[in-house]
Amino acid sequence: MAIERTFSIIKPDATRRNLTGAINKKIEETGLHIVAQKRLHLTTDQAQKFYEVHKERPFYNDLVTFMTSGPVVVQVLEGENAVATYRDVMGATDPANADAGTIRAEYAEGIEANSVHGSDSQDNAEIEVDFFFSDIELVG
Ligand code: RTP
Ligand code: MG
Repeated sequence: MAIERTFSIIKPDATRRNLTGAINKKIEETGLHIVAQKRLHLTTDQAQKFYEVHKERPFYNDLVTFMTSGPVVVQVLEGENAVATYRDVMGATDPANADAGTIRAEYAEGIEANSVHGSDSQDNAEIEVDFFFSDIELVG
């Protein structure tokens, strides 16, 4: 096991329902530390670039519209096995398949408005952290 960082987004469906604190509680209960966070409104250009890997998927345009529909909170999480630890507590993409107690099981509205994003690999975590936090020095 190693100390890693991962990148998280609290999505517009969650900020709209004032769930930032509840989701942060779930994150902190895993032992991960929230070492940076900021609230911002993604531009269409930022959302398109961020989800570029899904450009050919049928849900891409809807996803970009959803991710720009309200404010998000972008975060850097740090701790043991951060990428996998966070994906475990997020739960499955579709909340209907998410394990009880996970963020998506408790809070997601649906497969698209599923409350949180988490990096899917260490390489992507580094790219995604850099995308939003290249301007500050992170203190673990
Ligand atoms: P994320 O990237 O947000 O952490 O979620 P994930 O890995 O669990 O899911 P991924 O396959 O990477 O999909 C990215 C996001 O696209 C939306 N989505 N909509 N309508 C649909 O069938 C559909 N499928 C995925 C979700 O917001 C998903 O989190
Ligand atoms: Mg993904």
